[in-house]
Amino acid sequence: MSIRIQFQNVGMTFHTDQGALQVVDGVSFDIHDGEFICIVGPSGCGKTTLMNMLAGFVKPTTGQVLLDGRSIEGPGRDRGVIFQEYGVFPWLTVEENIMFGLQLNASQSASKDKKSICNKYLQLMGLQDFAHSYPKTLSGGMRQRLAIARAYATQPQLLLMDEPFGALDAQTRTKMQNLLLDVLQQEGKTVMMITHSVDEAIYLASKIVVVTARPSRIKEIIEVPFGYPRSESLHDDSRFISLKARLRELVMAEYEAQQMLSAPTHS
Ligand SMILES: Nc1ncnc2c1ncn2[C@@H]1O[C@H](COP(=O)(O)OP(=O)(O)O)[C@@H](O)[C@H]1O
Ligand SMILES: [Mg+2]
Repeated sequence: MSIRIQFQNVGMTFHTDQGALQVVDGVSFDIHDGEFICIVGPSGCGKTTLMNMLAGFVKPTTGQVLLDGRSIEGPGRDRGVIFQEYGVFPWLTVEENIMFGLQLNASQSASKDKKSICNKYLQLMGLQDFAHSYPKTLSGGMRQRLAIARAYATQPQLLLMDEPFGALDAQTRTKMQNLLLDVLQQEGKTVMMITHSVDEAIYLASKIVVVTARPSRIKEIIEVPFGYPRSESLHDDSRFISLKARLRELVMAEYEAQQMLSAPTHS
């Protein structure tokens, strides 16, 4: 498997009104073609910042992030991003939001194709009856599904997902996880996903990167011992259960460390 993404000794320091805030420190890891990486760590530790560097929205203050061997200079159509706060446009309808992403994608030419791709993902996300609705009239979960539909519809090689299923109820979440696995099975993508859920990380990922309390450093990289396709019965596998216990312990220690950081102005 070839290496697609390299975080090389990456650091990030923001300069805020309260002074310098170091958010990422000496992070190095690789993502190979076709891998599914989950980043797990406490809220406020720097996970979204890591993703923003890969998306090309911010540049690291030290080290570098490489995509196919080249330093990332900005956002690109090769990377589909699902933002933590959904990132849907309130002034466009559901259908227009999905079409917007497709419009940007020059490789998909005919507008008839765009329409049918749009319809396919509307269906998949259960939004077909809301095609002409505006995001403000949708529930949080529906807005999240819209953001997912928009990212999937452009069929990027790299999918960057920041807590994409966080606002969904348990049943919808399970459905979305399985749908994602199906989409990956069909379309073969490389994924970096941020999640709070230890269970979700093990069920979806091929590799889990556990990061520390702020500043984010690598605490441990765990290879998930299951192949694809996966099914829900995996949750009952004894290896799943023991890995979950171990991962939870790692993450809890960092949650506690993060809470000790008395920084009320930071999320
Ligand atoms: N552009 C920025 N300027 C200043 N501080 C920032 C900026 N972006 C993020 N931060 C701060 O960096 C820390 C980590 O943020 P973030 O990467 O969003 O964490 P996470 O996604 O793990 O919750 C937080 O304290 C946040 O307030
Ligand atoms: Mg975040």
